[in-house]
Amino acid sequence: DHGLHAPHYPFDHHGLTKTYDHSSLRRGYQVYKEVCSACHSMNLVAFRNLIGVTHTEAEVKALAGEYEYQDGPNDEGEMFTRPGKPSDYFPKPYPNEEAARKANGGALPPDLSCIARARHGEENYIFALLTGYSEPPAGVKLREGLHYNAYFPGGAISMARPIYDEQVEFEDGTPNTTSQITKDVATFLAWCSYPEHDERKRMGLKAIAMFTVLFGFSVWWKRFKWSYIK
Ligand code: HEM
Repeated sequence: DHGLHAPHYPFDHHGLTKTYDHSSLRRGYQVYKEVCSACHSMNLVAFRNLIGVTHTEAEVKALAGEYEYQDGPNDEGEMFTRPGKPSDYFPKPYPNEEAARKANGGALPPDLSCIARARHGEENYIFALLTGYSEPPAGVKLREGLHYNAYFPGGAISMARPIYDEQVEFEDGTPNTTSQITKDVATFLAWCSYPEHDERKRMGLKAIAMFTVLFGFSVWWKRFKWSYIK
């Protein structure tokens, strides 16, 4: 059983000329922070990566400063803790894999830095998975601690349904329904996997525009060059 194939959802950034919805990315970071980060690390993303994407530099300094980081040794050779800085990577929920598995009934919550890249279906899969919990079909018995989800390969997942209505309170007043919260975090995880997405589409369109002009010019030039032969 490979799991149900995720449908194509109308994400705002799907389409040749579409960029990420950056308000959605900002809400999605909040969802990651308040819900997912309890179990999932995001080892490849630093606070500074949020600057100009979801938050201003001043906001990012404040966000990073909410956490404590081990640093050192200092001049006396001692380790110390200090508030986080924009250059710090997101804090980890567990010190190591053993601790992560112990807290999750033996299962390992994967690092979410590149999860959209790593899973077939990308952000569509993430949305389908997080909204795809249900009772198991008749006759299917799940081991203690497993949850039925038709989108998860095998159908039995160790992660309990993480998102419910009103799970988070959005500062911009966006309704906090399950589907809205899920869309926002799926968009955020898509950005984590493909931070170059907006720039890539901009460059693509520029390249198409440029090559269109050059092609037109080369047609004119060819006719000009060959005109005396005709
Ligand atoms: C697995 C996302 C919250 C524990 C996963 C997977 C994703 C994901 C994409 C990978 C599924 C796969 O392998 O295809 C999220 C998001 C969350 C969230 C976006 C927040 C909205 C949580 C929380 C916990 C948790 C709060 C712990 C209480 C796990 C575990 C797995 C997992 C243990 C491994 C499941 C397995 O292999 O059976 N999660 N998660 N997750 N998550 Fe989460």
